[in-house]
Amino acid sequence: MKTRILGDSIGDITQAAMIIQEGGLVAFPTETVYGLGANALDADAVKRVYEAKGRPSDNPMIVHIGRLGQLDQLISRRPKWMDTLAEKFWPGPLTMVLPKSQIVPKTTTGGLYSVAVRFPRHPVAKKLLIAANCPIAAPSANLSGRPSPTTAAHVKEDLLGKIDAVVQAGDCEVGIESTVVDLTGEKPVILRPGAITKSDLERALDTEVELDPSLLLPPRDDIIPKAPGMKYKHYAPKADMIIFRGSQDNIRKAIAAKKASFDGKVGVILFDEDRPEEAAHDLFAKLRDFDDENVDLILAGAIQNTGVGLAVMNRMLKSAGYNVIDV
Ligand code: TXA
Ligand code: MG
Repeated sequence: MKTRILGDSIGDITQAAMIIQEGGLVAFPTETVYGLGANALDADAVKRVYEAKGRPSDNPMIVHIGRLGQLDQLISRRPKWMDTLAEKFWPGPLTMVLPKSQIVPKTTTGGLYSVAVRFPRHPVAKKLLIAANCPIAAPSANLSGRPSPTTAAHVKEDLLGKIDAVVQAGDCEVGIESTVVDLTGEKPVILRPGAITKSDLERALDTEVELDPSLLLPPRDDIIPKAPGMKYKHYAPKADMIIFRGSQDNIRKAIAAKKASFDGKVGVILFDEDRPEEAAHDLFAKLRDFDDENVDLILAGAIQNTGVGLAVMNRMLKSAGYNVIDV
């Protein structure tokens, strides 16, 4: 298939919207990462997203909306925290897991009775959603298992020839995927950490928000994570990767020593602990750069796993296959 490369002009966004309406696949930028979109209410179109990504069909998709009015048709009940979070964080990098309505196909939700909904704030995503006039199911626009795409070049690397179009519009501001919060239970639970943190949510709701216990742990056979996507091997660079955890000083020494003794090409990831947003913005792009440079080994320094740092560490640990050395 020939993939059309589109820009963010009105004409191009209209073309992209028509492709979505006809059941096609369009990659587009959001403020978090690029998404691979299809009409969320068209099960055949959504099936093609799974195929293009090589994604397991039990891994549900996030349904994107372009105005609040599109929410009601997707859900069967309004959990009590929903309106407050929508008012405070939408449009933005927050996804809410809600009880799904009849019209959302099981193909979109990976067989679940809940649906994950997000209203993104990226102007191009918003324009596309409004023009398509339907909710758009969009996982990250990468091949399953690879780091999420934060530039149009990353999308093309993975999906050129497999999808109908790419809407190109610069790199993504946040750089890691949205915070996913489950509102279907008694308490709000963060299933995937992101730029909107646990304390951001707690402050908005004035109630305790739980963290899914599996967030920083390797997948286990006896615990099934509530976000099915979190159980798969993710964000994996080609090279082996080791995370060093300890004081910043010890990390630097350990990385220098390992680098000196290793016979091969080494990539180093050292983020400023005080700037977790910068780490979030750069992490996936760095991992892809190391793939392009055919690095043999990646040595990374851990940062504090609080606030946005928790989201960065969640992704970093998955990338490294939980290969951590305490120093
Ligand atoms: O920032 C983002 O969220 C990006 C952009 C494109 O919006 N999208 C994204 O989608 O990261 P994806 O498919 O790569 O990740 C969706 C995550 C997965 O971990 C999935 O298991 C979880 O959300 N999820 C989706 N629907 C769910 C549901 N009904 N219940 C629990 N988890 C769900
Ligand atoms: Mg993904």
